[in-house]
Amino acid sequence: METDNARQKRVFSGIQPTGKLHIGNYLGAISVWVKNQSKYDNFFCIVDLHSLTIPENIEPDYLRGKIREVAALYLACGLDPEESTIFVQSRVTQHAELTWLLSCVTPMGWLERMTQYKSKSSQLETVGTGLFVYPALMAADILLYQTDLVPVGEDQKQHIEITRNIAGRFNHLFGEVFKLPEAMIRESGARIMGMDNPDNKMSKSLGEKKAEHSIGLLDSPEEIRETIMGATTDSQKETRFAEASPGIRNMLVIYQALTDKPRKEVEEFFAGKNYSFLKKELTEVVVETLRPIQMRYKKIVADESYLEDVLQQGRKRAEAIAGETLEQAQKMMGIR
Ligand code: TYM
Repeated sequence: METDNARQKRVFSGIQPTGKLHIGNYLGAISVWVKNQSKYDNFFCIVDLHSLTIPENIEPDYLRGKIREVAALYLACGLDPEESTIFVQSRVTQHAELTWLLSCVTPMGWLERMTQYKSKSSQLETVGTGLFVYPALMAADILLYQTDLVPVGEDQKQHIEITRNIAGRFNHLFGEVFKLPEAMIRESGARIMGMDNPDNKMSKSLGEKKAEHSIGLLDSPEEIRETIMGATTDSQKETRFAEASPGIRNMLVIYQALTDKPRKEVEEFFAGKNYSFLKKELTEVVVETLRPIQMRYKKIVADESYLEDVLQQGRKRAEAIAGETLEQAQKMMGIR
């Protein structure tokens, strides 16, 4: 009975098809989706329209390839098209349409306060309007499906907050249309740091430029070993989560999240050992986690029509629900 009730709860999440997908994306997002997919009614999107917000990073053939890569990785990591609707954002045109309606009810001040906008725009010579209204597009993604839960990494918290605020403002101005979603963030592993610089979170774009920065989901065992062996440490021997330096803590967190062992057990296992032992054990766990994923990935990309079928079917399912919500919002605003 409980499962039936939960099934009525809807989950939505997505990943931008840019950069090199890494162990942080897996732990913070994909692994949580996979773990819970039989409990909920799931929608997982490849958010390609978001990737366009930094046009300097886009080369059309690269983007086309990345959309397929991310879709194939969703499946390889364990998403089941029978349990989850998997689709490409740009193919469901309601996302772009609802974004306009939501942009009109979103005060500029809310967008100006977004930390992601501030940090990304500060690195660009020219800032496109799309980057500024990025949160309205993300709100449209989530709100179109009357989503209950949004499983994401910690960095997306502010985006879920603004989504709630935008939904609330729309409902207040035009009448109840949208459900207010909640973020679903795992306790440990929701913010994996860079292997080369544990003061900054692991990033897809940096990982593409610097091999030592991230553990890529498609990295070979040798590449994984090199990245972990080169990871930042210190001159101590401290392997307790609370006392460890940022680089060591990061490795402990990855190890713990991948093995699903209690923190105490992990601390006892590494107590008194030197860091090369931690690195060796971590390498083994990462390689063994990624091995079956990479094997499935190879099979999936070899069969072009299978992947395309999954995405077509996903688009149809997504469109049916998105169409209903958009129509309702349009009616409430008096344009339909
Ligand atoms: P994106 O593409 O940057 O990241 C995809 C997911 O991975 C999580 N993540 C991390 N988790 C732990 N440690 C890290 N170092 C790390 N880096 C990334 C992110 O939190 C995210 O869950 N705006 C979103 C994409 C998006 C979206 C949505 C998400 C668009 N529309 C609707 C949910 C719902 C983004 O840029 O994620």
